[in-house]
Amino acid sequence: MPISKKATLLIRNIGHLVTMTGPVPRIGDGMKDVALIEGGGIAAAGDEILAVGGSDEVEGHTPLAEGCEVIDAGGRVATPGFIDPHTHPVFSMTREKEFEMRLEGKSYMEIAESGGGIRASVRDLRSTPVNVLMEKTTGRLDRFLRHGVTTIEAKSGYGLSTESELKQLEIIRDLGPLHPVEMVPTFLGAHEVPDEYRSKREDYIYLIINEMIPAVTSGGLAEFSDIFCEEGVYDIDESRRIQQAAADAGLKLKFHADELKSTGGAELAASMNARSADHLVYASDKGIRAMAASGTAAVLLPGTTFSLGGRQYAPARKMIEAGVAVALSTDCNPGSSYSESLPMIISLAAVQMRMTAAEAISAVTVNAAYAIGRESRLGQLKEGYQADITLWDMSDYRELPYHYGVNLASRVIKKGKLVSEC
Ligand code: NIG
Ligand code: FE
Repeated sequence: MPISKKATLLIRNIGHLVTMTGPVPRIGDGMKDVALIEGGGIAAAGDEILAVGGSDEVEGHTPLAEGCEVIDAGGRVATPGFIDPHTHPVFSMTREKEFEMRLEGKSYMEIAESGGGIRASVRDLRSTPVNVLMEKTTGRLDRFLRHGVTTIEAKSGYGLSTESELKQLEIIRDLGPLHPVEMVPTFLGAHEVPDEYRSKREDYIYLIINEMIPAVTSGGLAEFSDIFCEEGVYDIDESRRIQQAAADAGLKLKFHADELKSTGGAELAASMNARSADHLVYASDKGIRAMAASGTAAVLLPGTTFSLGGRQYAPARKMIEAGVAVALSTDCNPGSSYSESLPMIISLAAVQMRMTAAEAISAVTVNAAYAIGRESRLGQLKEGYQADITLWDMSDYRELPYHYGVNLASRVIKKGKLVSEC
């Protein structure tokens, strides 16, 4: 079928073209299907994909616009631009001292209880000027992009006052037009209880519900509401109350759940029809079944277990067998997992959670798009979808988990434009 629109981008001679077309989300054995085309080509017009197929066929049937960018992939692998569905990218101070304290035997929770952890990041963020935060966040977006990531979910949660939560969400909004990496904003006012409310936590919950959520939604500053539902942070009843208020105000739900202990977070997320529950290292069997039934995605964060020096990883195989849509993320944050490398996460998912290359790629494309509500536009290389494409310096997509600790993203295309070349 000849194509009427003219291409502004043509990529030919792709060895493994991983299109990911097919069911969304991918569940069960479906996660093994990457909808592969060998010897493929892609054409895009502006920010949209025009044609995907065999290299000669796409080239033969697509008229090229004047000045069309033509890329010969030289037999390399192409995938949809990766999507990271859980990040905390807006912060200034790093916490390498805490990392060393953990090496000496202190636990993440012990450090948090003694005033470090999230609360230390909050004190820093509140006093850091916006331009400094913009610059540091931009550096992280640059690193995501260089590692083949074209979209991230981005949380607030280091402000914990109305003013400073809005400050973070406004930075996420204002960076949108300035950087190729697209961000989906999440309000995380219930990330911790800040210093000044330690002895009156009910007043802080009142503030979240009656001041922060209305301010966030009236400014259109977030699509999702998230909460750290964990023993010692927000319990199940508090989490339900805060998230119900967020849902009533029109926000979609996400949960940090069952990360350090099993508290019934997965069950709560499923019962509230959350789009995702994240971490889930200690999710119960009942919680896993409930998530499969409600279509709540599991966003797994093996980099966090790795960086905290944990031995137990989330039960990915059990979740896949139960029919949960599994996604993967870096959890990029200054405390428990400081990395912008989704390829590294794919290697950890393979070795520590026994996910195959195909399952892990499903988890950072279609299923990650589903976890952030972008499945109708992102996560697949398909006509009409946004032209977000990463070319990898490898000839077989199964090299992704296997060849670890180096950056193999060679060209990154966002909205039809070449935005990074390594
Ligand atoms: O996803 N678990 C809670 N929140 C982050 C850690 C944030 C921090 O330590 O600064 C996480 O691991
Ligand atoms: Fe997190």
